[in-house]
Amino acid sequence: MLEVNDSVFCKKLPKVELHAHLNGSLSTKTLRELIELQKPLSDNSDATWNIWEAIIEHGQKRTLEECFQIFGIAHSLTTTPATVYKATQDVIKEFVDDGVRYLELRSTPRNVPQIMSKAQYIQAMVDAIQGMTDDQILVKLMVSIDRRQGKESASETVDAAVVAYHQNPKIIVGLDLSGDPTKGLVSDYLPVLARGRNAGLKISIHCAEVPNSDEVEEILNFHPDRLGHCTCIHPLHGGSQELWIKLLHSHIPVELCLTSNVKCGTVENYKKHHFIHLFTAKHPIVLATDDKGVFATSLSEEYVLAANSYDLSKEQLWKMTMSSIDYTFASEEEKNRLKQMFMQIKELSDVQ
Ligand code: IMP
Ligand code: ZN
Repeated sequence: MLEVNDSVFCKKLPKVELHAHLNGSLSTKTLRELIELQKPLSDNSDATWNIWEAIIEHGQKRTLEECFQIFGIAHSLTTTPATVYKATQDVIKEFVDDGVRYLELRSTPRNVPQIMSKAQYIQAMVDAIQGMTDDQILVKLMVSIDRRQGKESASETVDAAVVAYHQNPKIIVGLDLSGDPTKGLVSDYLPVLARGRNAGLKISIHCAEVPNSDEVEEILNFHPDRLGHCTCIHPLHGGSQELWIKLLHSHIPVELCLTSNVKCGTVENYKKHHFIHLFTAKHPIVLATDDKGVFATSLSEEYVLAANSYDLSKEQLWKMTMSSIDYTFASEEEKNRLKQMFMQIKELSDVQ
């Protein structure tokens, strides 16, 4: 069990973030700055700005409804290549400040008529990543498909992602399937994901955020490279023994977002999070923030919560962060460099 200075330890611990959505990761500071940039150009009423500012201001005290409203506000503020660029750079800098040394940032490219195409959205993120001079962090991009938006939109997104991947193979690494888990059918999106996979992109799929055995079965049969959440697979959490065994046998790494699940109410509390079942089964897992801005968290805070909820030692946290490197979509050479860097930090510093 961590005690004194646990948050200092978890902040200093070099970390890997593999599940962060750009627009859900925007901090209060960035949202406020984007509002100031947009005010002179927009015909929003004062009442709208006041409502937005109040919701942003609520921070940790946001209701669940307000949390979801933040996504809408963030989307209204990132409608140009310049604002997508700023959003991306701000989020990267905040992860650096939190001790993250490797980041896979994901986002759903949006087409804003006459202003920005999906390709330009992706390019703005790539430019922001390339424009970072910080050598403390290695950043990759995953292109998200929103399961609410239909097959045609998904196909356009994959086309744009594949073109961008050929131009920037060291930055763009994968595709993600996300969005409201109660909307759309996963089976509609597997063919376009397969197309991306054939082009060389890795795949991560949001899985079992709500109970849906048929969908979990389809996803596991597709065998993505990583899975997000996997909340309702264990028999105690709305899944079944059969699905649980199938997940364990797949050995597919699972991205676990404790605070996101607790705040959204898909998990009752931290102690009852399915982390404990996967951790006990020695299944590959990686802690992640999901939407650090919306849910007012940070990756080091997620490490503190895991340590305190499941009685983890510092050594177990070190093991968790080291093994996360294996689940990244980085090249083997990059993984080796990260491992060496993490080991050096462990040996040379007081992060023990
Ligand atoms: P963006 O893709 O950068 O615009 O980030 C926000 C988007 O990520 C949301 O509109 C959702 O589509 C997706 N997203 C964020 N959090 C979750 C989640 O917990 N489950 C499913 N999708 C999510
Ligand atoms: Zn997510």
